[in-house]
Amino acid sequence: MLSFETLSKTYTDGTQALSAVTVDVAPGEILALVGGSGCGKTTLLRLIAGLDRPSAGRIILNDETITVPRADVGVIFQEPRLFPWLSVAENVGFGLSHLSAFEREGLVTNALVRVGLAGHDGRWPRELSGGQQQRVAIARALVTRPKLLLMDEPFSALDATTRASLHGHLLALWAESRPTMVMVTHDVEEAVTLADRIVVMQPKPGRIFDEFDNPLARPRDRLSPAFDAAKRDVLRSLDRSLRDEAPHQQKTAETAGMWW
Ligand SMILES: Nc1ncnc2c1ncn2[C@@H]1O[C@H](COP(=O)(O)OP(=O)(O)OP(=O)(O)O)[C@@H](O)[C@H]1O
Ligand SMILES: [Mg+2]
Repeated sequence: MLSFETLSKTYTDGTQALSAVTVDVAPGEILALVGGSGCGKTTLLRLIAGLDRPSAGRIILNDETITVPRADVGVIFQEPRLFPWLSVAENVGFGLSHLSAFEREGLVTNALVRVGLAGHDGRWPRELSGGQQQRVAIARALVTRPKLLLMDEPFSALDATTRASLHGHLLALWAESRPTMVMVTHDVEEAVTLADRIVVMQPKPGRIFDEFDNPLARPRDRLSPAFDAAKRDVLRSLDRSLRDEAPHQQKTAETAGMWW
C-alpha cells in the first residue's frame, strides 16, 4: 500500500506546490493524476520517487516512509533518458547487474518481446525512433519488477498511434507483476484507458480537486459510449477545476483593488 499523508511542499521561494494531499493507493492499482499546469503533479511524483523531501506530511510505501530513491521504485520520464553509450539490451538490463549474465539475458529478452522490440538487443539508442526509445525505457523500468512505477507524462511526446500501442505494451507488462502505478498525464483519454482511479488536481496551492473511480473493465474499448461517458466526467471536472482557479479574474480584482 502506498499512502500520502497530508503531504505539503513549499519551495524555498515560497511557492506552495502541494498542500495537504492525502491519498491511499492500493497494491497493483493504477492511479492517474491530471490537472492544469503548475498544480504540483511533478512535485508529487518527485516526492514519491524520493528525489525531493516534503515540507510536511509523509509518503509511506508498505509501512516504510520514503525519504530517498529506492531500488524497488521505477520511474519513467517524459523523455526516454537512455544511456547513449549502452546498447538496447544493456540499457534494459542496467538494473539487473546483481543477476548472472544468463538470468539477465532471459529477463531482458522477455521484456523486449513484451514491448515489441524483439531482436533489437544489439542496437544503439540513436538508431531507434522516439517511440522505440520510450519502449526501451518502459522495458527498463519494468524488468526489475518494481513494487511501484512512477510515470510523468511518459507518452506525451509521441504521436497518437504510437501512444495507443504503448498503452497496450505497458498494460501487458503491468499484468505480469502488477506493480502499483502512479502516472501523470495531460491526456484524459490516456487516463481513462489506463487508470483504475483518476485524481484531478488544482493549483495554487496544489491540491486534490476531485476523484473518479474508473468503472470500465479491461480491456477498454475507446470507441464505446461508456468510455466516452467516463472521459466526459473527468473533462467536466477538469474544466471546473480550471474555472475555479480563475487566475485572470482574480488578478484583475487584485489589480483593481490596488487602484482603489
Ligand atoms: N524547484 C522549484 N522551485 C520553486 N518552485 C517550483 C520548483 N519546481 C516547481 N515549482 C513550482 O511549483 C508549482 C508546481 O510545479 P509542478 O512542476 O509540480 O507542476 P505540474 O503540475 O507538474 O505542472 P505541468 O503540468 O506544467 O508539468 C509550480 O508553481 C512551479 O512553478
Ligand atoms: Mg509536470
